[in-house]
Amino acid sequence: MSTLSERLAAQPTLTTERLRLVQLGPDHLDETMAALDDQEAMRLTGTRGTFTRDQVRAHLDRLPGAGDRADFAITGADGVYLGEVVLNELEEDDLAMNYRIALAGPSLRGQGYGTEAGRAVVDWAFDEVGLHRISLEVYAFNPAAQRSYEKIGFLVEGRARDALRWDGAWVDAVRMAMLDTDPRPGR
Ligand SMILES: CC(C)(COP(=O)(O)OP(=O)(O)OC[C@H]1O[C@@H](n2cnc3c(N)ncnc32)[C@H](O)[C@@H]1OP(=O)(O)O)[C@@H](O)C(=O)NCCC(=O)NCCS
Repeated sequence: MSTLSERLAAQPTLTTERLRLVQLGPDHLDETMAALDDQEAMRLTGTRGTFTRDQVRAHLDRLPGAGDRADFAITGADGVYLGEVVLNELEEDDLAMNYRIALAGPSLRGQGYGTEAGRAVVDWAFDEVGLHRISLEVYAFNPAAQRSYEKIGFLVEGRARDALRWDGAWVDAVRMAMLDTDPRPGR
């Protein structure tokens, strides 16, 4: 019987109707650097600061085989990079992790790729890894992401008021989570 960490470390490729979710790693350095130039995605995810190529490479180097997280590159069936989806912040005793996702560029959004990738990742995390709870925060100025999360099966649990100050304006963070026992719409 393997441990939860061992199952995360042995992260498989997940295949959906239109997508292949593969281990994110150093092969995706150029695509990851390009994604950090997407100012709208940086705003939507509340990501601040700059990352050097060496810092990003060091981060990507650590991902394959990591037992406390699962980072997937979202690719099309042709292997083209479409974004990343991540389970991190493992709380092993609680069987809980945090979730985040970003598609690589505005032209990829609104076509259901994020929802399709998310369903595959949470199903794997609940059914194969053995997680009980997956949680996330989405900023109030990002209703499209909240809608995508609801389509996956995440439920709103609360609201952190004024959790982000972006360009001088306060923004609430909507707290959402999904349990392994919750309904899974769309499957
Ligand atoms: C969030 C993200 C992963 C969602 O993936 P996606 O493939 O674009 O999502 P989908 O196309 O499946 O669903 C988007 C939904 O939002 C809806 N939507 C779009 N704009 C909306 C708006 N302004 N208000 C409410 N709903 C909106 C769409 O109609 C769609 O719902 P529907 O299928 O019921 O019509 C993707 O948009 C993304 O990468 N965004 C940039 C980064 C980001 O915001 N990450 C999340 C941070 S918490």
